Amino acid sequence: MGKKKNLLDILKKLKRLPQIVTPKDASLILGYTGISPDSLIVDAGSGSGFLCIFLAYYCRGGKVVTYEKRPDFAKLVRKNVKSSGLKNIVVKEKDIFEGIKEKNIDLITLDMKGAEKVVENAFQVLKPGGWLVVYSPYIEQVIFVREEVENLKFTQIKTVENIVREWRVGRHTLPEVSGVIHTGWLTFARKSSKN
Ligand SMILES: C[S@@+](CC[C@H](N)C(=O)[O-])C[C@H]1O[C@@H](n2cnc3c(N)ncnc32)[C@H](O)[C@@H]1O
Repeated sequence: MGKKKNLLDILKKLKRLPQIVTPKDASLILGYTGISPDSLIVDAGSGSGFLCIFLAYYCRGGKVVTYEKRPDFAKLVRKNVKSSGLKNIVVKEKDIFEGIKEKNIDLITLDMKGAEKVVENAFQVLKPGGWLVVYSPYIEQVIFVREEVENLKFTQIKTVENIVREWRVGRHTLPEVSGVIHTGWLTFARKSSKN
């Protein structure tokens, strides 16, 4: 890909079908996990491919393997990945409940129904010190995911909501009163480096 392509320009051109993880939340994943640019990342479900493209852009020395069970969305993701120009994304048309084939993973991101059912398998295939991040639009899923991560030897567990509010600055300065406030919760959990 051309060296000067800006990520936001790439994202603007992508087609969206399912709900995406926005740059506001995706950037928090990079900041809170501190993963290195040569990381191996597993992502599910791919959806429209926004999160996997975001992560692959910043981890260009590494690889993002993204699982999508629906053939129509897998096709869309492949199209979006091609349009991004990134070469370090592998799209697997597969149900992640059948198991994660990759090993020694630095980061696993889950944005899908039933994510709590993947937590145990994620723990097994993460490298010591690796991170699991679950994006949940509903608090009920956060509760299920927290139960799972707390039962395993995960450390540094936290759930956050990333609220960004713009301000209207002028003669009468005040916070914007409308706009997207809630997107989802992010649950972070790190496999202990002593495992
Ligand atoms: C909300 S979308 C993900 C959006 C994506 N994170 C993005 O930023 O574009 C959820 C996706 O998970 C997929 N999915 C749900 N269960 C799955 C499973 N068990 N294995 C793989 N994909 C799954 C759905 O088909 C859907 O495309």
